[in-house]
Amino acid sequence: MTRKTVRIAMNGVTGRMGYRQHLVRSVLAIREQGGLDLGDGTVLWPEPVLVGRREHALQDIAERHGLEHWSTDLDAVLADPAIDIYFDAQVTSAREEAVRKAIAAGKHVYCEKPTATGLEGALELAGLARDAGIKHGVVQDKLFLPGLLKLKRLIDGGFFGRILSVRGEFGYWVFEGDWQEAQRPSWNYRAEDGGGIVVDMFPHWEYVLHELFGAVKSVQAHVTTHVPTRWDEQGKLYDATADDAAYGIFQLEGGAVAQINSSWTVRVNRDELVEFQVDGTEGSAVAGLRACRVQHRSATPKPVWNPDIPATERFRDQWQEVPDNGEFDNGFKAQWELFLRHVVLDEPWRWDLFAGARGVQLAELGLKSSAEGRRLDVPELTAGVLL
Ligand SMILES: NC(=O)c1ccc[n+]([C@@H]2O[C@H](COP(=O)([O-])OP(=O)(O)OC[C@H]3O[C@@H](n4cnc5c(N)ncnc54)[C@H](O)[C@@H]3O)[C@@H](O)[C@H]2O)c1
Repeated sequence: MTRKTVRIAMNGVTGRMGYRQHLVRSVLAIREQGGLDLGDGTVLWPEPVLVGRREHALQDIAERHGLEHWSTDLDAVLADPAIDIYFDAQVTSAREEAVRKAIAAGKHVYCEKPTATGLEGALELAGLARDAGIKHGVVQDKLFLPGLLKLKRLIDGGFFGRILSVRGEFGYWVFEGDWQEAQRPSWNYRAEDGGGIVVDMFPHWEYVLHELFGAVKSVQAHVTTHVPTRWDEQGKLYDATADDAAYGIFQLEGGAVAQINSSWTVRVNRDELVEFQVDGTEGSAVAGLRACRVQHRSATPKPVWNPDIPATERFRDQWQEVPDNGEFDNGFKAQWELFLRHVVLDEPWRWDLFAGARGVQLAELGLKSSAEGRRLDVPELTAGVLL
């Protein structure tokens, strides 16, 4: 086997996503498995170069994982011809500028969602990347979750018949930060820092709906900030200027309707932190991050509405577990491997910065719909052109 090294500048690796999912669970996990086998006698070996603002934090991570390269000077890293890929998992508000620089330096680009803070910026990045002829991608990890892969298997196998509706329930209680520490960074609750649940979650809903059920044709959202003040990492009280809950209805190409609640102000009475119920003429399914349960029309009970008597059946017990039928890798790692193959082997890839821009577009229109109190059409974006 010949080993081919690919050098990846990884910015934002001190953060939650950058460290755990992208560095440890993806890039380092690929190294632990011996690299990425390209199937032609070559093994791809990702070599991360940690980039960030705090020297001691980077050094600390590098030492912990036996890594040699780290820098606080993004410009110098991008000027290094040995760097192949720029990856960005910084706070959202810092992404656009850094990605623009990476494209100008001729690096391939892979980044977290949302790709920019507004549609104009997201489209500009995608256009620049296309014109520069680099490979580019956005993280769309939910597509690689076991629960959603099972759902996709059901769709591809024709289980549902005609899909009528999708009900998504996402959320959990994020502590305010006074008597219990908040489990998400405080910038998520400040609009001026790129926070807000719409900006965070609608990009996910865009690609999940698009890839599984059909492109989103219209959006109607009610967006709110239920908890107006919170305590930050220093224990200081601050105004939560960003939305912490969004109640959205999405009309999909093909006629199905999706209704998704996203909330950091809800207590979980579900099996998983996100669940989608899909109802079709032939059957229904409830998929979470990992599990998926189904009920076929032939096994559907016939309840009769009568509030005077207790429930006669245990409805949740009437569903059947969908088997794994295989092993599921970490979703972030699975997508990293596809991106690396796209970069070095030119294999097909559709999760590019234009796909990322669609997510930003849906978030922007969701917020607008709520502010204006009306349903908005979602114009189609084809290679950066609004149709
Ligand atoms: N794909 C997913 O499921 C998913 C989940 C959560 C977050 N995200 C995205 O990942 C990105 C990072 O989110 P996170 O939760 O890891 O955030 P985080 O606050 O834990 O990490 C942010 C990172 O950005 C760096 N940074 C650069 N400039 C900064 C600045 N001006 N202020 C503060 N930090 C700065 C920090 O040092 C840190 O490394 C966001 O864009 C978010 O939308 C994606």
